[in-house]
Amino acid sequence: MISDAKKEEIRDAADIVEVVSDYVKLKRSGSGFTGLCPYHNEKSPSFHVTPRLGIFKCFGCGESGDVFKFIMDQGGLNFNEALRTLADRFGVYLPQEQSSYEEQVFEQEKEGILHALKFAGVFFYRSLMELDEAQKARSYLDQRGYGRDIIKQFGLGYAPSSGQALIDAAQEAGIDQLYLLGGDLVKQRTESEGVYDTFRGRLMFPIFNPTGKVIAFAGRVLGNEKTAKYINSAQTKVYNKSEVVYGVNFSKNQIRKNKEMILVEGYTDVISLHQHGIDNVVASSGTALTPGQLRTLHRFGDTLTMIYDSDAAGQNAMKKGILLALEEGLEVKLLELPDGEDPDSFVKQFGKESFDDIKHKKSQDFVDFLLAKAATEGRLEAPISLARVINELIEAVAHIPDTIQRQVYIQHVHQKTQQYRKGTDRELFQELDRALRERAVQKERAQQRQRNKEARNRQGRNEQASDRFDNMEGSGELGITVPDASEYAHPVYSDEDAGRYAELDPRGVGEEGFRTGAIKQVPKPHYEKELIRIMISFGRDMVGYVGGLANEKLFEDQELRLLYLDIIERYKAEESFGVDYYSRQPSPYPELLGDIFLEIHTASTRHYEKTGIEFKKDKDPYRSVKGCLKALEINYFKRKRAELAERFKSADTQDKKEIVALQSEIQKKITDREQRDSEALYPDPVGKKGESLSPKSFHYVMKKDREKKD
Ligand code: CTP
Ligand code: MN
Repeated sequence: MISDAKKEEIRDAADIVEVVSDYVKLKRSGSGFTGLCPYHNEKSPSFHVTPRLGIFKCFGCGESGDVFKFIMDQGGLNFNEALRTLADRFGVYLPQEQSSYEEQVFEQEKEGILHALKFAGVFFYRSLMELDEAQKARSYLDQRGYGRDIIKQFGLGYAPSSGQALIDAAQEAGIDQLYLLGGDLVKQRTESEGVYDTFRGRLMFPIFNPTGKVIAFAGRVLGNEKTAKYINSAQTKVYNKSEVVYGVNFSKNQIRKNKEMILVEGYTDVISLHQHGIDNVVASSGTALTPGQLRTLHRFGDTLTMIYDSDAAGQNAMKKGILLALEEGLEVKLLELPDGEDPDSFVKQFGKESFDDIKHKKSQDFVDFLLAKAATEGRLEAPISLARVINELIEAVAHIPDTIQRQVYIQHVHQKTQQYRKGTDRELFQELDRALRERAVQKERAQQRQRNKEARNRQGRNEQASDRFDNMEGSGELGITVPDASEYAHPVYSDEDAGRYAELDPRGVGEEGFRTGAIKQVPKPHYEKELIRIMISFGRDMVGYVGGLANEKLFEDQELRLLYLDIIERYKAEESFGVDYYSRQPSPYPELLGDIFLEIHTASTRHYEKTGIEFKKDKDPYRSVKGCLKALEINYFKRKRAELAERFKSADTQDKKEIVALQSEIQKKITDREQRDSEALYPDPVGKKGESLSPKSFHYVMKKDREKKD
């Protein structure tokens, strides 16, 4: 870690005007400077730099920050990289000693490999320009319309065919063979001693990281040889295939401005689009798109337009990419080019205007795209295949992390499929609910597997996982972490709550780690939802009744717990808490409500389909409530029991005794609840026979009743 003092030293030394000037043409204006904002597209300058304060601010888009923020955003660096870059540039000494010996060795090796790769890039480029044998490569590029400037910009090159050329040149330049091997520029012979060049007689495309360093190569065949069209560098210490996207270094500024990026398949697509002035474009490079690649892209923009080749392979890859992109939280659009075209061939034939035009007019969101595909495949006719298509759409929607967006897309699916199916959007929401639960369960399982794996590793290394229990200290009688009611006294979803809600974010860990780690997103227990549904549906008397028996601690689901508390608060304040009220509240209330009110259909529609008899669930709501309360209590005590068991493992003898005593108490409560019918467990409401209830006295009666019983 770099100390705060160092950080301030760097800030003082760094000239923000000089740094910004790398990206923005600045003009003096008063005590500061202005220019065209690099964060958004504009024609007149509203981007201000104030050197006295060391800050920038755009009055157009509102972006602002200090020199670190600027270089992180514009240079695509993380904070540490930003510090180091600036320290380097402005001559601030940064001690290296913070890293361990192994880290230093690793860093050194990476430096060496990067140096070798850079050397190779220059060597290939010069070979392309100078060698006789590169003539075929030069005419190939010429034929494709790639002139000198494009070749230079993208650093294209030619790898001589001898199999020794790079090795020899590197040796002469004093480059250690280990680094050539480390960068997969040369390979070890298997039959005999020695090494040979990885790339031979190929057109070379350097692959860059976001800051523009060469980290790998792709070599394309030139003739019609019967070999792979491309040879790509293997995964190395500096090239993580699952995160690298081709062209980010060339396109990131434009992507930041547009907030939008185009994703294509091939290197040549990126190059040709750039050549025609479309410069917010990157390529997945043929490999199946990975979550890591999308995460990389998400650092630069939010909207992704996929334009893959119009052949079957391309279209299938595009379909697969949709789910991953949605899951990453990107807004996805898709464009299918006319038959036989890829972005490269299209823009070459028809030019930028036609490209922009078709992109503007023909890009579809994923619902439209998938429906159109299904239509051409004739899958919208037979009920079975239609159902499958709709399920696929809902499955896709379930990948979207944002609740509101999911709802919007479900409505959209509903609208778009209305002509094919009867029914309301309710069933779709219900299906979404199911898909979400399934995903949550799967995620939970995957995480459990991961945890198990980690635990095994820990054990293997003979390390005590003592820290796991540390956070239980000092939180209540036995350290059982049941939130205190006062903590939730104001269940508004304020900024303060953001931390708490972070764990509800299904996306889990944020890149910078400011979000809390991926914590389980469990489906909301049916009985918890049902209890709240009945409270909201049946009004004050019911809430009074439940409030006298229940307690927010019983709720396992945090959101429902907050909602429950809110209802109780509003009840006490004699304010309304109906469906109308909550659907007008900010997120997540409306979504919660949707979730809760869908519950009623799960049992009844199935039943209805089977028997044709509509099952009235709410005939005796008090009975239902008692059933829910029983389930809530049993599960609450079971959670306590589990926590005790966990604590037992690390307790000392004295604590162990205490825990055993508590365990048996809890077990008694569980057995009691399990053995008795809910009707016997809970009293009837006083007002059930018709007399109206005064909330206060009612509350009181119920409480006393309860005390007697326990
Ligand atoms: N690709 C690969 N290995 C192959 C074939 C393809 O890595 N054997 C990757 C490359 O990244 C390539 C992309 O898939 O850029 C798209 O493949 P393709 O369309 O076949 O190649 P293009 O780069 O478009 O080449 P060209 O325009 O010359 O056909
Ligand atoms: Mn192609």
